[in-house]
Amino acid sequence: MIAQPLTILDHHYQELNNGGEDVIQGLSQNPKILSPKYFYDDPGSQLFEKICELPEYYPTRTEAWILQQYADEIAEITNCCELIELGSGSSTKTQVLLDAYQKIATSCRYLPIDVSGGILKTSVLQLQKKYPDFSIHGLLGTYEQALVHLQSNYLQSRMLFFLGSSLGNFNPEECDSFLNQVSRTLQTGDFFLLGIDLQKPQDILEAAYNDSQEVTAAFNLNMLSHLNWRFQGNFDLNLFRHQAIYNHVDNQIEMYLHCMMSHCVSLEVLGLKVDFEAEESILTEISRKFDLATMQKQLQTKGLKTVKTWTDKKGWFGLILSQV
Ligand code: AVI
Repeated sequence: MIAQPLTILDHHYQELNNGGEDVIQGLSQNPKILSPKYFYDDPGSQLFEKICELPEYYPTRTEAWILQQYADEIAEITNCCELIELGSGSSTKTQVLLDAYQKIATSCRYLPIDVSGGILKTSVLQLQKKYPDFSIHGLLGTYEQALVHLQSNYLQSRMLFFLGSSLGNFNPEECDSFLNQVSRTLQTGDFFLLGIDLQKPQDILEAAYNDSQEVTAAFNLNMLSHLNWRFQGNFDLNLFRHQAIYNHVDNQIEMYLHCMMSHCVSLEVLGLKVDFEAEESILTEISRKFDLATMQKQLQTKGLKTVKTWTDKKGWFGLILSQV
């Protein structure tokens, strides 16, 4: 019999009347801003999976290549029994790691964590079949909720991993407090495996976020559909267009939705009416591009000492294994 696949960390998460204070705040300020967490309803998560397969979107396959090369080494160095993945999505890349751990450990626990219930449940059920000797249990919730939950549910020898350069979607303050929370959740000897996208020429970066099939555009616009269903809004997706540009000063891709015509949008559940001017934009995401040595120093300040780093041959993407 297969055990319950999911623990729901926030039972109110799927309810329409949940939260939204950040939406009110973000759309009331100038320039307007929305949190990238609103990308990931079920259709948005599916679009993200498609992005990962685009020819221009190099991060996923570059990180996957590094994992394929070095997963056995990571498993040997860490030899953990509890593997926890923040933002697991479909857990596709993770299977390379699970295969490596399967070679060296008879029993292992894998806890994927995601905000998107549909994709999480499907992947947990598939993984339970594929890895019958592993105990696999999904946690449905935000990173913050999951890290708090993990602080009081300690088993032994953990590796927490955060792949895909999702850290790049946090601004410096959010990044700092996230790393503080990671270091509070881990105990001495535990490992943290972090995947980060590295700095590279602007044309490569901008192509990756303005793909020719316009999947990234659909992903960006889907945020407005998500707000429409979650908060009974009336965003007209035809009145916005996607753009991603590289900001050299902050070393980050910035994704915008540009409004093409002045109009008013309402979000009933939030009691919010928002005026948009023509050419006004909403910043929906930053994707920071890191320097490997600087990130290692930052981890060190959190008590996370680098054990080893790996990159691909072009130095486009990096994996840092650190230990408390
Ligand atoms: C999830 N995250 C790391 C992606 C990125 O590259 O920043 C999200 C994304 N946005 C557009 N394309 C992909």
